[in-house]
Amino acid sequence: MDLFEYQARDMFERHGVPVLAGKTATTPAEAKAAAEEIGAKSGGVTVVKAQVKTGGRGKAGGVKVAKSADEAEKYANDILGMDIKGHTVRTVMIAQGAKIAEEYYFSLLLDRANRAYLAMCSKEGGMEIEQLAVERPEALAKISVDPNTGIDEAKAKEIVDAAGFDTETGAKIVPVLQKLWDVYRGEDATLVEVNPLVKTEDGEIIALDGKVTLDDNASFRQPEHAALVDEAAEDPLEAKAKALGLNYVKLDGNVGIIGNGAGLVMSTLDVVAYAGQDHTGGVSKPANFLDIGGGASAEVMANGLDVILGDDQVKSVFVNVFGGITACDAVANGIVGALKTLGDAATKPLVVRLDGNNVEEGRAILAEFDHPLVTVEATMDGAARKAAELAAK
Ligand SMILES: Nc1ncnc2c1ncn2[C@@H]1O[C@H](COP(=O)(O)OP(=O)(O)OP(=O)(O)O)[C@@H](O)[C@H]1O
Ligand SMILES: [Mg+2]
Repeated sequence: MDLFEYQARDMFERHGVPVLAGKTATTPAEAKAAAEEIGAKSGGVTVVKAQVKTGGRGKAGGVKVAKSADEAEKYANDILGMDIKGHTVRTVMIAQGAKIAEEYYFSLLLDRANRAYLAMCSKEGGMEIEQLAVERPEALAKISVDPNTGIDEAKAKEIVDAAGFDTETGAKIVPVLQKLWDVYRGEDATLVEVNPLVKTEDGEIIALDGKVTLDDNASFRQPEHAALVDEAAEDPLEAKAKALGLNYVKLDGNVGIIGNGAGLVMSTLDVVAYAGQDHTGGVSKPANFLDIGGGASAEVMANGLDVILGDDQVKSVFVNVFGGITACDAVANGIVGALKTLGDAATKPLVVRLDGNNVEEGRAILAEFDHPLVTVEATMDGAARKAAELAAK
C-alpha cells in the first residue's frame, strides 16, 4: 500500500524524523483556516500540496507556495479537483513554508535480487532527480544495506560520504537517516523516499516530502495500518472480496475466472486470453483473478461467484478446478450449493472444468443438477474457448 504524503509526514513525525507542520484540507475554506494556523509559524508562508499517490505533482502544478492564507485558499481552489496523471486531487496538505538552502535526495528500498535493502542518496535532490539518475548516475550514491544491521551510525556515515556531503552537513544528516531506517523497519515498509530532504537557511535538515510504501504481507503485525487504507480509491469489488477473505484481483475483461491454487488461476488467465484472441478476435479477456484456495466449500464458491457476478463487465464465468486434497465431488457440491444460494442472482453462463481426484463423481453431481446456466467441459482449452465464446455473444 502506498501512503499519501500527509500520512508519510505523520509517520515520520512519530519516528522522530524532522518534518514541518502540515494539515489536510478538502475545501478551499478549510485550506484557508489551515493556512492561518500553520502560516503563523513561517511568516504567513505555506505550501499547498496536492495529495495524490503519484510522482511529479510539482511539475503538474500541484505544489504552490502561498504568501498568505487568502492565496492558500485560491491555490487550494485551483488544485482541488485537478487531475494529475489520472489521479483526481481530493485533498490538499497545507504545509509550513521552508526557507530552503539546498535540496537533497534519499531513498531506501527493497533490493530483492541482492536479498538486501538499497539506500540511494544525492546532494542534488528535487524535482529533476529522475533526469539526474539517467544523465549523471554517478551523482546518485547507491549503498547496499544489510537487513540484519540496517542503517546504524556507521552505515549512515558511509551513505553520506558516498553522496559527497561535507563533514558538517553529513553529520547533521546521519541521525535523520537512522530515524528513516526506524520508519522503514518499524513500519514494515518496502520503500521510504524523501525528495527533497532539505537544508534550510538556518542549517536544519528537514524531510519536505515523503513517499512510503508499506508491505501488505506484514499487515497482520501492523494493525494500525488498516486505518491508512484509502477506501474511496479501493475498487468496491476488491474491497468486498477482501472482506470475504478471497484472493481476488479485478481485471478489465469479460470472462470471470475462479480456480483453486494461484498457479492454476494464473495459467487459466493465459489460456482464456489466448482463446479470446483466437476465437473472438480479442473481444474476450479475463475479468479477474480469483483463487479460492484448497478448501473449495460451497460457501467459498458462493462468495467467489457472488463477487464475480457483481462485476457488470463479466459475461461468462469459467470455473477451473483441479481436485487434489479437495476432491472434485466436494467442489461440484460447492458449485451446486452456490447456485442454490444465489438463486435468481445467478444469471450468467458458467463453464466448469473439473479434473483430478474424484472427477467422475464431481461430473455426475453436475450432470444430475442439470442447471441451464452450467456447461461442463472436459478440458481446460475447451472450457476456455467455450467461456470466451459465451462472453463474446
Ligand atoms: N514545505 C515546503 N516549503 C517550501 N518549499 C517546498 C515545501 N514543500 C515542497 N517545496 C518545494 O516544492 C518542490 C516540490 O515539492 P514535492 O517534492 O513535495 O513535490 P514533487 O516532488 O513535485 O512531487 P512528487 O514527490 O510527488 O514528485 C520541492 O522540491 C521544494 O522545492
Ligand atoms: Mg518530491
